[in-house]
Amino acid sequence: MRIVETGDLIEAVTGVCPFQMILLDPGYLPAIEALQALVLSNLEKKELCVRLTGAEIKNILAGQGLALGVIVKRRLVAFCALCFPGRSEDNLGREYGLPEAELSKVTHLEITLIAPDYRGNDLQRRMFKHLGQLAQSLGRWRYLYSTIAPANYPSLKAVMKQGLLIVDLKQKYNHYWRYILFQNMDRPLQLDRGQVIPVPPNDLAAQQKLLQAGYIGFASRQGPEGVQILYGRRLTIT
Ligand SMILES: CC(C)(COP(=O)(O)OP(=O)(O)OC[C@H]1O[C@@H](n2cnc3c(N)ncnc32)[C@H](O)[C@@H]1OP(=O)(O)O)[C@@H](O)C(=O)NCCC(=O)NCCS
Repeated sequence: MRIVETGDLIEAVTGVCPFQMILLDPGYLPAIEALQALVLSNLEKKELCVRLTGAEIKNILAGQGLALGVIVKRRLVAFCALCFPGRSEDNLGREYGLPEAELSKVTHLEITLIAPDYRGNDLQRRMFKHLGQLAQSLGRWRYLYSTIAPANYPSLKAVMKQGLLIVDLKQKYNHYWRYILFQNMDRPLQLDRGQVIPVPPNDLAAQQKLLQAGYIGFASRQGPEGVQILYGRRLTIT
């Protein structure tokens, strides 16, 4: 078993408890499916997270990706997975003009699931950080994509803190709206942060207009007027 982090977490009912963050192998499939069922059944807005099929999870665990889990008292309480889409049709690099030869360097941040009692421990960001280091050691950390619902503020915040930027906003799975976040880890996108335009995440039309005009979303902030996404003009193309 490969352990990437240990320490204590705050659990909603019992308080402080020790955890292990580990790299998951195929034997964890039933535990991941159970955690996914728990998290999705507790979601108020079902459109925020689209479930992975058993076959998709199996492929990730078999090496078409990487998955980390957090174990507390022998139970899986958090899961975060990357997927290497290779030359498949759903490689997001295809939609954004990456040449065929670069598609094998694309990684998707696929899903994060945290049991309700363990939220607030910053686990998504922490798992994502370790996944990045592991993917980098495999040479799989060049073009990074993620899709996030505009209303999924905790997920958006964690992913943007890792340097991913909003480059598009469109209807994806089941016609649900999704931000497309991207970063070129070798040559990070450059933008002008001098003239910042803040927009509330639920103003889809204003954000689409900005994205079409060459802006990218680079941060989120919470102020008296609620959550706002900060946009700046893009200076590089790829
Ligand atoms: C998204 C998810 C993985 C994040 O869990 P987490 O890592 O415990 O996130 P946290 O609760 O620590 O929140 C992350 C940040 O968002 C903030 N946040 C959380 N809920 C918020 C809300 N309703 N409004 C505004 N900010 C919020 C937190 O304060 C935190 O900010 P900080 O980093 O400045 O402290 C978890 O909520 C989850 O499993 N959700 C259901 C499944 C899902 O939507 N997965 C992602 C898409 S597949």
